[in-house]
Amino acid sequence: MSTHVDVLCPNDYKTLELIGSSSSMADIRNKISKYAASDAEVLIQGETGVGKGLCAKLIHSLSARAQYPFIEVNCGSIASGLIASELFGHQKGAFTGAIADHIGYIQRSNHGTLFLDEIGDMPSDLQIHLLHFIESKKMQRLGSDSSVSVDCRIIAASHVDLKHDIIQGGFREDLYYRLNILPLYIPALRERKADIPDYAQYFLNLLSDGKKKHLSKAVVDYLTRHSWPGNVRELRNVIQRAIIMCGDKNITIADLGLEIADRQMLPASDTIDSDYLLQVISDHKHNMSAAARYMGISRTTLYRLLKKYNLQK
Ligand SMILES: Nc1ncnc2c1ncn2[C@@H]1O[C@H](COP(=O)(O)OP(=O)(O)OP(=O)(O)O)[C@@H](O)[C@H]1O
Ligand SMILES: [Mg+2]
Repeated sequence: MSTHVDVLCPNDYKTLELIGSSSSMADIRNKISKYAASDAEVLIQGETGVGKGLCAKLIHSLSARAQYPFIEVNCGSIASGLIASELFGHQKGAFTGAIADHIGYIQRSNHGTLFLDEIGDMPSDLQIHLLHFIESKKMQRLGSDSSVSVDCRIIAASHVDLKHDIIQGGFREDLYYRLNILPLYIPALRERKADIPDYAQYFLNLLSDGKKKHLSKAVVDYLTRHSWPGNVRELRNVIQRAIIMCGDKNITIADLGLEIADRQMLPASDTIDSDYLLQVISDHKHNMSAAARYMGISRTTLYRLLKKYNLQK
């Protein structure tokens, strides 16, 4: 399968853990368990790195569909001209280059969950096809007259405010309401500071290879004051770096290396230019996950940047 798509295996569920003792996280946990018991569409919104992907996987893994595929499609990473055929599939000869029948991601997620990440990037002509599919649970492959029924649950996510996109004319209002039956908004980390010590301790235990490490009150206070533009992902990366920097000792404020980030206040991705992007991708032999990890951004953000600079294949 292409790099735009992730398929979750039941074995991966064991590692899914939703950490955080804030009241927002308690509310999210409560919603996730209710949403998992339902089959309705879910729309997850929140800034980059807040845990949208994790929540989508959790809903699927707790649902009756858990033994069936969870297919994650990043709508922002597929060239707009290809999304229709990737999602709906095509018949041989449907268009130049369609040399064989192709089963799309909708059909592949039969009985399971189709996670449409960055739904705001879906071209408007396709939004109407998606709406039609959600309402009828029937679809046609490109070039085919017969329709097939597919039983899949749709979870969509967006890091941009889709309501704002509706006003700008980029997103269909009818599709928005159809997807937003079960809304899940994940607040930015700076709006739920009570979770910061929980995540810091969790990632410290997770990433320090069994070595006992302690977080001093000074370090925890410092972490709590930071604004975390990259949210939970940024915190994880900072803890990972601090573990490397502190050696055999306990972590100090200097080990966090946050002073520069504090001054910038901007998501790191906004400072990445196209030359640097191409260089890092080539250094990582076109392994997008590895390149994104190296730059401290998500694959979603990486694809967004490729699109922004017109560097998609
Ligand atoms: N509540 C949480 N508990 C434990 N880990 C979390 C939590 N929230 C986020 N994470 C971790 O933070 C990282 C980023 O989360 P995720 O990829 O789900 O964010 P996202 O909102 O999908 O980001 P993007 O918009 O950039 O795709 C992942 O490693 C995820 O496991
Ligand atoms: Mg994501």
